[in-house]
Amino acid sequence: MLDQLNQIEQSALQAIEAVQDEAALERWRVSFLGRSSPLMQVFDQMGTLSKEERPLIGRRANEIKKALETALNGRTEALRQAALAHSLASERLDVSLPGRPLPLGRLHPLTQTLREIYRIFAEMGFQVYRSREVESDEYNFQLLNMPEDHPARDMWDTFYTTTPGVLLRTHTSPGQIHVMYQYAPEPIRVILPGVVYRYEQVSARKDTQFTQVEGLAVGRSITFGDLKGTLADFARRMFGQKVRARFRPSYFPFTEPSAEVDIECFLCAGAGCQVCKGSGWLEILGSGMVHPTVLRNGGYDPEQYSGFAFGMGVERIAMLRYKIEDIRYFWANDLRFLEQF
Ligand code: PHE
Repeated sequence: MLDQLNQIEQSALQAIEAVQDEAALERWRVSFLGRSSPLMQVFDQMGTLSKEERPLIGRRANEIKKALETALNGRTEALRQAALAHSLASERLDVSLPGRPLPLGRLHPLTQTLREIYRIFAEMGFQVYRSREVESDEYNFQLLNMPEDHPARDMWDTFYTTTPGVLLRTHTSPGQIHVMYQYAPEPIRVILPGVVYRYEQVSARKDTQFTQVEGLAVGRSITFGDLKGTLADFARRMFGQKVRARFRPSYFPFTEPSAEVDIECFLCAGAGCQVCKGSGWLEILGSGMVHPTVLRNGGYDPEQYSGFAFGMGVERIAMLRYKIEDIRYFWANDLRFLEQF
């Protein structure tokens, strides 16, 4: 019996040396210390032993049980340490390594320019209003004081759709009518950004699709002075405090009087250069006092209300600001271009 016990001890202690993981350790525990292990069976058989044998065997069996339990605890701890060492090694971090640069996205130069425009007009109390890109002839022309066959329609080369009376808006001005319909007779101060379409020969200066920001203010005593002040202030905030603006008489069917605004060329400070073609001035927008007919079409009594409106080309402003030579770059999605902003 003692021999048998010694053998159990020996094989158990030998087997535990080979245990490398928790599952194997559990199997070891079940087979050497579990209910039906040979060692436990020795305990079960105590009653069958003689008086002399019983204390001897009992003591030895208890010793072995303790020894196996100690081995089990030791092995459990060793496995835990090994796992910890392994995870420490795999999670090791060299804090002295230089960081990995993350590729940074950026906003499109047009978006940047638009946001700057929104910010400036927001400070002057203008809200952003959006209207549709597919328009009716009525909104794009008729309600803007251009009845069918009006010669001024030639100012905009228009994309028509196959549906009669439906076209791609050639400017953001039809939005003026939408806003007026919605707000009459309340005073209005809005800007209307968006894409417009023209049937143009594509070149470095002209594309068939570009972005405008329209402005509209309607109220009881709005004057041409308000228009001048607003646009001169915009020019200074957008292009620099020293930049001068000039108003040139012009014609639009939906404004009277009408003016185009030039800013002093900020590249050559008015001396004349390639960008301003030697003139010292750069045209940035069209504007004027809202025509009484247009006010009436929008639901305002022109005897009591007046207003001003303007429309600027955003690509053009971005081209001036960032010295971009070709309008086609804006839609080409060439990273070599986009990464410069
Ligand atoms: N809609 C005009 C254009 O696209 C610009 C403009 C807007 C002029 C508002 C006057 C008033 O050319």
